[in-house]
Amino acid sequence: MSSIKPSEFRYDSMRYNRCGKSGLKLPAISLGLWHNWGDVDDFENGRAMLHRAFDLGITHFDLANNYGPPSGSAERNFGRVLSRDLAAYRDELVISTKAGWDMWPGPYGNFGSRKYLVASLNQSLKRMGLDYVDIFYHHRPDPETPLEETMGALDYIVRSGKALYVGISQYNPEQTRQAAQILRDLGTPCLLHQLNYNLLDRWIEAELFKTMAHEGIGCIVFSPLAQGLLSDKYLNEIPTDSRAAKKHGFLQRSDITKEKLARVRSLNEVANERGQSLAQMAIAWVLRKSNVTSALLGASRVSQIEAVVAVLAQPEFTNEELKLIDDILAEGNYE
Ligand SMILES: NC(=O)c1ccc[n+]([C@@H]2O[C@H](COP(=O)([O-])OP(=O)(O)OC[C@H]3O[C@@H](n4cnc5c(N)ncnc54)[C@H](OP(=O)(O)O)[C@@H]3O)[C@@H](O)[C@H]2O)c1
Repeated sequence: MSSIKPSEFRYDSMRYNRCGKSGLKLPAISLGLWHNWGDVDDFENGRAMLHRAFDLGITHFDLANNYGPPSGSAERNFGRVLSRDLAAYRDELVISTKAGWDMWPGPYGNFGSRKYLVASLNQSLKRMGLDYVDIFYHHRPDPETPLEETMGALDYIVRSGKALYVGISQYNPEQTRQAAQILRDLGTPCLLHQLNYNLLDRWIEAELFKTMAHEGIGCIVFSPLAQGLLSDKYLNEIPTDSRAAKKHGFLQRSDITKEKLARVRSLNEVANERGQSLAQMAIAWVLRKSNVTSALLGASRVSQIEAVVAVLAQPEFTNEELKLIDDILAEGNYE
């Protein structure tokens, strides 16, 4: 049973947004466990971040079978915190996991077959010590498996009680429409789409926002800080404790180009003018869109979560500020 007593004020400042046309609400800011919860990381730091996040009203924690490293370890470490500290609060939490990327060797350990998805979720539940997850996602489109099979597996998973809702990730507009239609026909609506979206990566604005709204699907955006690039940390150097400096970090030193830094510098000035850090402005910027149900943040320390949640109490953008940001983003080619 629980060994922590969460803050009694935990629901006072967070905003909760309805997920598409469903009955489920998600916090405007959710926490993802892709980095910083593996066996290579400090367990007590991850534990402290989960406690603080819950105290700040972050009710949604996002995982995947392959988060770590090694793969599976983030789910195992999350399960340890859950059973030690948060078990009594299970019904106040929305926990998601996914399958789609490489997980185990052989032909059944990746992509989108029914064989893989059902087996992977069974493994995830065991690692986290859960009977069910709230949301189970197909993590990436599979070019070979018929969509009917993948969506049929998601429907089966809900009917078997192992997930309450299902979602998709990284599907293009046409794949999204087809998946939504199949799931609707099966009687298990698609709850949520998980997509990359941030100041440096606006691809979903072209069509997907409209597609999701039309289909009644919620939208949770990952890497809202471009893995930390949208902060002031890389402006002068690559700090030794940053994601880009870590061997297992997904952000590579080579991703931090001079061109991107020039843009980040200009954005940083706008943020400072607004009395915010760039990280705060980047979160506020994705949340300016009513299509965005939740910004899915990653964090390496408690103070980062606190800083980002503080955004919800800060002023909205003026039209002039949004125009200035658009102009900065439109300048030259920054790839
Ligand atoms: N569906 C998919 O395919 C997919 C793909 C990627 C991610 N995701 C999900 O999205 C989640 C978030 O992704 P992400 O970790 O790339 O998100 P992100 O929020 O863009 O980046 C997180 C990193 O930004 C830095 N940061 C966070 N708050 C900060 C602050 N207040 N000030 C300065 N720096 C700050 C930290 O970097 P340092 O570590 O350098 O301190 C942190 O590790 C993942 O955990 C996962 O759940 C899904």
